[in-house]
Amino acid sequence: MFESIYIVGLGKMGQIFAHIVPTIFNHNIVGIDPNKAPSPELDDLKIQLESKFKKSMSFKKSCIFLCVKPYHVSKVAKELEGQLDKDSMLISIVAGQSIESLSKKFKFKGPILRVMPNVAAQVGYSATAIACSENTSKDQKKWAEKFFEHVGTVDWLDEYLMDAVTGLSGSGPAYILMVIEALIDGGVKMGLPRNIATTLATQTVRGAAQLHIESGLHPAVLKDQVTTPAGTTIEALHELERRGLRAMLIQAVEMATKKSKKLSKK
Ligand SMILES: NC(=O)c1ccc[n+]([C@@H]2O[C@H](COP(=O)([O-])OP(=O)(O)OC[C@H]3O[C@@H](n4cnc5c(N)ncnc54)[C@H](OP(=O)(O)O)[C@@H]3O)[C@@H](O)[C@H]2O)c1
Repeated sequence: MFESIYIVGLGKMGQIFAHIVPTIFNHNIVGIDPNKAPSPELDDLKIQLESKFKKSMSFKKSCIFLCVKPYHVSKVAKELEGQLDKDSMLISIVAGQSIESLSKKFKFKGPILRVMPNVAAQVGYSATAIACSENTSKDQKKWAEKFFEHVGTVDWLDEYLMDAVTGLSGSGPAYILMVIEALIDGGVKMGLPRNIATTLATQTVRGAAQLHIESGLHPAVLKDQVTTPAGTTIEALHELERRGLRAMLIQAVEMATKKSKKLSKK
């Protein structure tokens, strides 16, 4: 479908893609990043590395993975302005950049996918949501889905929901990592060696998620099943309710969603 693939921005997310794309697609793959010094991670990449776009590069039938920070988008767009042809596709993972604004900045009327993966793509467990412009064909959607399914789950959504996705799953790994960190400290406070507390906390979070996924049961049903009357779990749950754990997490998703909306408007 494409003659070449460009991954623009080889930071945390771009490098994940740069590792995976060559294992799925057999294209000419180029990674662009201005300041990446040679490093063992980059040496491992099976793609052509460049510090900038060059006149000799062709963008005919190309797919661009845009993986830069929001404030670098305009600069990249200026360099590529008007160069993408109608058979190309732009895949942006940039938070808060709408399809309309990308189309204007790149002066590109072809298909644009606005994607929100998360950092767990690195281990194949991203929760990825995708919104696409109306002119995206079925084959182009299938092509993108094939890639993102390699790094986790994929949901197609209307674009107006992408800020909420950013607030829940885009930023979400950080919330859960904070919970894991706190559980470890709880174990340490109660006398467990840190390494043991770490394994117990991490495996507990993974196990609870897996149990929920595999059973298909509502989390509240599973929670009730492990809550013995007058037992230890209800003591802890009461404390979590009293301190507002659920309200805090709901509020966290709301705040991150609002921030993403603000970024879109800038
Ligand atoms: N990290 C996440 O969990 C996550 C999840 C979902 C979506 N996202 C989105 O993904 C995007 C990238 O995030 P990230 O965490 O990977 O950021 P990052 O680690 O800062 O990577 C961005 C890379 O782009 C490079 N860059 C800057 N200007 C460039 C240009 N003109 N051309 C090519 N490359 C350029 C940066 O170089 P310098 O460092 O030298 O500036 C950096 O290496 C963001 O827009 C973010 O909203 C991130």
